[in-house]
Amino acid sequence: MHLSQGWRLASVIPLAFAVSADSTTGFSAENIITRDVCILGGGATGTYAAVQLREQGHSVALIEKKDRLGGHAETLYLDNGEYVNYGVEGYFNNDITKNFFDQLDVNYEALLPGSILIENVNFNTGKRVLPGNGILGTVAGAALYRAAIEQFDYLASGAYYLPDEVPEVLLRPFREFVDTHALQGAMDVIFMFAENVGDILNAPLLYVIQNFGITHIDALLEGGYIRPKNGTNELFSKAAKYIDEQNIFYGTTVSQVKRNSSGVEMVVQIADGTRKLIKAKKLLVTFPPTLSALSGFDLRTEESSLFSKWNHKNYYAAAITNTGLPDGVNIANTNPENQPGSLPLPPFQWQLEYSGVPGYFMTKIVAEGNFTAEDAKALIVSDLKRMNQTGTFSTKEPEIAAFASHSPETLIVSTGDIKDGFYRKLYALQGQQSTYYTGYTFCTDYSTPLWNYTGSVLDMMDL
Ligand SMILES: Cc1cc2nc3c(=O)[nH]c(=O)nc-3n(C[C@H](O)[C@H](O)[C@H](O)COP(=O)(O)OP(=O)(O)OC[C@H]3O[C@@H](n4cnc5c(N)ncnc54)[C@H](O)[C@@H]3O)c2cc1C
Ligand SMILES: *[C@@H]1O[C@H](CO)[C@@H](O)[C@H](O)[C@H]1NC(C)=O
Ligand SMILES: *[C@@H]1O[C@H](CO)[C@@H](O)[C@H](O)[C@H]1NC(C)=O
Ligand SMILES: *[C@@H]1O[C@H](CO)[C@@H](O)[C@H](O)[C@H]1NC(C)=O
Ligand SMILES: *[C@@H]1O[C@H](CO)[C@@H](O)[C@H](O)[C@H]1NC(C)=O
Ligand SMILES: *[C@@H]1O[C@H](CO)[C@@H](O)[C@H](O)[C@H]1NC(C)=O
Repeated sequence: MHLSQGWRLASVIPLAFAVSADSTTGFSAENIITRDVCILGGGATGTYAAVQLREQGHSVALIEKKDRLGGHAETLYLDNGEYVNYGVEGYFNNDITKNFFDQLDVNYEALLPGSILIENVNFNTGKRVLPGNGILGTVAGAALYRAAIEQFDYLASGAYYLPDEVPEVLLRPFREFVDTHALQGAMDVIFMFAENVGDILNAPLLYVIQNFGITHIDALLEGGYIRPKNGTNELFSKAAKYIDEQNIFYGTTVSQVKRNSSGVEMVVQIADGTRKLIKAKKLLVTFPPTLSALSGFDLRTEESSLFSKWNHKNYYAAAITNTGLPDGVNIANTNPENQPGSLPLPPFQWQLEYSGVPGYFMTKIVAEGNFTAEDAKALIVSDLKRMNQTGTFSTKEPEIAAFASHSPETLIVSTGDIKDGFYRKLYALQGQQSTYYTGYTFCTDYSTPLWNYTGSVLDMMDL
């Protein structure tokens, strides 16, 4: 009985599959879109790619599941004209960024912290504690750390360009590297960039360097950061105009993809319920290529095997108000039990960072992959309540003015997989089946080096 049902099911599945595999036919002419390149994801990298391809005279379709471009760059505009960049705050002050801003006619200014005052509080107890290290400031700490990692110059652009034989030290816990190079006094500045790694002391050195490496330090020491004058969103609203709204598909996801060496065909589902067929010479995937994000793709075994290996963090960002916290102070989550560095352990709010706009703080939450948005909001409330109970600050029930999930973040693989050539195999996918990749699984999770990497991927497309 069970057997025969199983057999009947098995005979039905290939049939259903054959029908869906054929669903790229039967589209009327107005629902077929033909472009040189189809770009999936309209965050920093997808938007950059679309602008450059347009500039080079190629046609694009940009598919974005949200109703706006920008991805991790998010701005809360207030009625009084002020704004809070509660996602991406700034961009390296170098030619890569400035050329892009100039191309889009985006006015920019130096990014300065909302405040340089820091209060150290252990968010687990709500009590004030001593700073993690008072020895080295940002500049000295960064310089010391840079000297220690200079030997890994093949990682300098932010891409995972590892030698075939991956040095064992890159796979060992960061804690050992800190000991060897006496980096205890540099933990604050390292964490300022690599907080998304979570428990950095026990993470492989490679992933700490990928989040705070030579490219980030040089940017920090040489030019600092800049930001669009009217919020990071300004960059993306100007980019959308440049790309032309008729090439951008908001609220849209891909439901089926067929690829071969001469091009790609994909069915997309638009917010209004309609489906369109996009035909393109090349496909550029810019969001993290996880199996769930790529469902409906005709993945080959080598692709699905690589994409099944990711582990990730969940990451949330929010702008909060009505906290009761005093304006002009950053409250750093400092855990004296975790040495060296007194860094918080996931799940944590990294800092309650004064936004520069009276009454508004920003917070970033780093946690394991099972931590939900509701958990993150509850953590914001309970951390503030604890500070109130201990009398550290007289806080109120905060209002979450803006909230975003940036999960999955910090996609990493096991040290065994790294040793086994994961990144070499990942990069070898570039160009296969007319498909290319960029974004923060292929290069460090910072916009400016990601734009540079994206430029090199566009060069690989022989359009
Ligand atoms: C809170 C926070 C603060 C940061 N601050 C900085 C900073 O100050 N400076 C800096 O340089 N970097 C910062 N970063 C790093 C930031 O992630 C990168 O700079 C950069 O924005 C990543 O761009 P991306 O294109 O790779 O990814 P994303 O910006 O995530 O873009 C991916 C896009 O794909 C879309 N998408 C996802 N899945 C699908 C799907 N299935 N179909 C269609 N579309 C989809 C998403 O909606 C998103 O728009 C920060 C990150 C976070 C989370
Ligand atoms: C930009 O990318 C190229 C490779 O395409 C690399 O050689 C160069 O070092 C990168 N520049 C920066 C500033 O990272
Ligand atoms: C800044 O951007 C916001 C949102 O796009 C817009 O409403 C506002 O008019 C802009 N302000 C200026 C001065 O351009
Ligand atoms: C690729 O697929 C398209 C449409 O499915 C087909 O017309 C074309 O011949 C295929 N090209 C190759 C090289 O297989
Ligand atoms: C989430 O995962 C972590 C380890 O990855 C585990 O310690 C924790 O108990 C899990 N939490 C929940 C609510 O499942
Ligand atoms: C903070 O503590 C005071 C009493 O000291 C209390 O009245 C208030 O409700 C508390 N706030 C929160 C958010 O718990």
